[in-house]
Amino acid sequence: MLNIVLFGPPGAGKGTQAKMLVEHYGLSHISTGQVIREHIAMHTPLGRQVEQSIARGELAPDSVVIELVAEYLRQHHNSKGHIFDGFPRTVYQAREFDKMLEVDVMLSLEVPERELVDRLLRRADESGREDDFSLETIRNRMEIYREQTAVVAHYYADKGKYAAIDGTGTVKEVFALLCAEIDKHIRL
Ligand code: AP5
Ligand code: MG
Repeated sequence: MLNIVLFGPPGAGKGTQAKMLVEHYGLSHISTGQVIREHIAMHTPLGRQVEQSIARGELAPDSVVIELVAEYLRQHHNSKGHIFDGFPRTVYQAREFDKMLEVDVMLSLEVPERELVDRLLRRADESGREDDFSLETIRNRMEIYREQTAVVAHYYADKGKYAAIDGTGTVKEVFALLCAEIDKHIRL
């Protein structure tokens, strides 16, 4: 089992790198943001419940997100490992997550805020994501990250399960840095 938390602010490259890591290591993957967007697109009760707060860039309730991850784990219990993209995002989620499985390492992609904002504004046209459309919403997501999410890094650092990764290079360069770190955790 290899369980990796891919962490970082909005636009850090979590989704981009998760896709490549899944292929390279044969892991399963969940992006809680992506699952939430699918619920919104399908107008499920959960989607309707969180739609407005997500569009403003706010977090979904912990209980909702934890249940999404629990359901994902039930469906992927035979997997040889997982990448969690965008989860856990609060200390409460991290504590609940500890009751569900053992995380090997949190890899945190570090990118300065100015570049993050540029990336998200560039992506807005193609992504169609409502939370990319306005500078105000992007700034709100950054602020929520700083206030509620950044502290989760300390939670894993305190357990000796944290590595910061420079996320400013090319997609390929960042991937190589991530792989070098992950390879340290592969048990032969
Ligand atoms: P989520 O979907 O997780 O969004 P996010 O954290 O805001 O991050 P993004 O998906 O915008 O960025 P990313 O890091 O994946 O970067 P990407 O690879 O796309 O969450 C959305 C919302 O759902 C949250 O705001 C919240 O409301 C809710 N939610 C989700 N999880 C939750 C939870 N656990 N609890 C509560 N609520 C939750 O890259 C960004 C752009 O940069 C792309 O265009 C990409 O091509 C480009 N790029 C990537 N890498 C590079 C590079 N190295 N150089 C140049 N450009 C690059
Ligand atoms: Mg993403």
